[in-house]
Amino acid sequence: MDVLRIRGGKRLQGEVTVSGAKNAALPIFAATLLTEEPCIIRNVPDLSDIRFMAEILDKLGATVEREDSRSWRIEAKKIASRAPYELVRKMRASVCLMGPLLGRVRASSVSLPGGCVIGPRPIDIHLKGFAKLGCSIEIAKGYVEIDGRNMRGADVFLGGRHGSTVLGTANILMAAVLTPGRTRIESAACEPEVVDLCHMLQAMGAKIEGVGSHALVVEGVERLHGCDYPVIPDRIEAGTLILAAAITEGDVTVKDMRPDHLPALLDKLEESGLPLTLTDESVRVRSNGQLKPVDVITHPHPGFPTDLQAQMSALMSVTPGLSIITEKIYPSRFMHVPELQRMGADISIEGSNAIVKGGGRLSGAPVMASDLRASAALVLAGLAANSDTWIQRVYHLDRGYEKIEDKLVALGADIERVSDRDIPNDLIDP
Ligand code: EPU
Repeated sequence: MDVLRIRGGKRLQGEVTVSGAKNAALPIFAATLLTEEPCIIRNVPDLSDIRFMAEILDKLGATVEREDSRSWRIEAKKIASRAPYELVRKMRASVCLMGPLLGRVRASSVSLPGGCVIGPRPIDIHLKGFAKLGCSIEIAKGYVEIDGRNMRGADVFLGGRHGSTVLGTANILMAAVLTPGRTRIESAACEPEVVDLCHMLQAMGAKIEGVGSHALVVEGVERLHGCDYPVIPDRIEAGTLILAAAITEGDVTVKDMRPDHLPALLDKLEESGLPLTLTDESVRVRSNGQLKPVDVITHPHPGFPTDLQAQMSALMSVTPGLSIITEKIYPSRFMHVPELQRMGADISIEGSNAIVKGGGRLSGAPVMASDLRASAALVLAGLAANSDTWIQRVYHLDRGYEKIEDKLVALGADIERVSDRDIPNDLIDP
């Protein structure tokens, strides 16, 4: 199996370009099912999750073709309504097929995705929303069977214990755009990925008001047409690269990104004293090596993103002083902590808080990636460590970061993809 070997201690320097957003592209791919006309989707990152989604659309009957390395053509002339377990279990985001299937064929049979390492990830709010739209729902043999023959516009409230739901909002939106009448979505998620989906649906002829707010009003239309749509840049990849520059005390310009999609991260980094220069499409980090610790609480957008919490924890673990990182979206999303501890980080967990006593130098070790963002945190820690770090189960990283080692190597990092057989025996069995 592939392993990333990182020789830490190199200061990153130069320019790096951000890829298209995985979490915007996945629901946008699903939305192509809403029309029988072809859709061209551009600026799509080359990731395993995108290929899973393409495979599912193909199984549902769409013709899915790659136009070039970043563009896909999807034509869903005639589609089935059943997404099977063997594909859905590979990727939780497949739940966002329910909305477009209901919109287009008034029926959806999508396998329940099953457990997730970052904590419980129920879809009760999605289902409550579909019920409000007049659907009848049954769970049978591991599948959510939804009958949408009586669908009509309605008022739908999507707030939950941890705020709104990103894919839940995407699902209700995609069902509502082809549902007769007016649907008002209250407590809608306003993450940039939801806004991007709204723009794509509008490009297909959907009538949506309130885009970017917590109250979306959808006027159902009879049909949607094809579109040619570019996906937004990946704010989480951009944030991870900014944090990579910070943790290596580097001088890096992160390009082709949207700083306005990362208000809370940039605010926290400024508070910690990191010199940043912003344009509309780039952030330059010019570290002076003098960071102060900051406390961070994750919240739905525009709050600090949960998907950057692990990476921020890695930065705080090398920043002298005490910081408290509080996770409000997935209260037990701390799988990166025991691995960072193996590298010498002083972090303790109390409930949904990570208490980080930062400042010590990290030392490289063989570590295990457990999910996408935990893997990114380990890469950052490896860049800052004073000896070799060996990151195992890198397939987690490959789900969400396009060519991450190439991008970091171009900035001066010493990273190589090797085999787990290359890990020195004395590190595994000293
Ligand atoms: N929730 C419920 N019931 C629901 C839906 C959500 O209780 O029906 C809870 C969740 O358990 C969680 C909170 O609400 O505590 C927010 O979850 P949300 O539904 O917003 O998450 P998601 O839409 O399933 C997307 C991203 C995640 C990201 C979250 C939060 C995609 C494909 N996934 O998931 O991304 O962490 O929003 O911003 O868009 C990642 O990229 O690493 C990742 C996990």
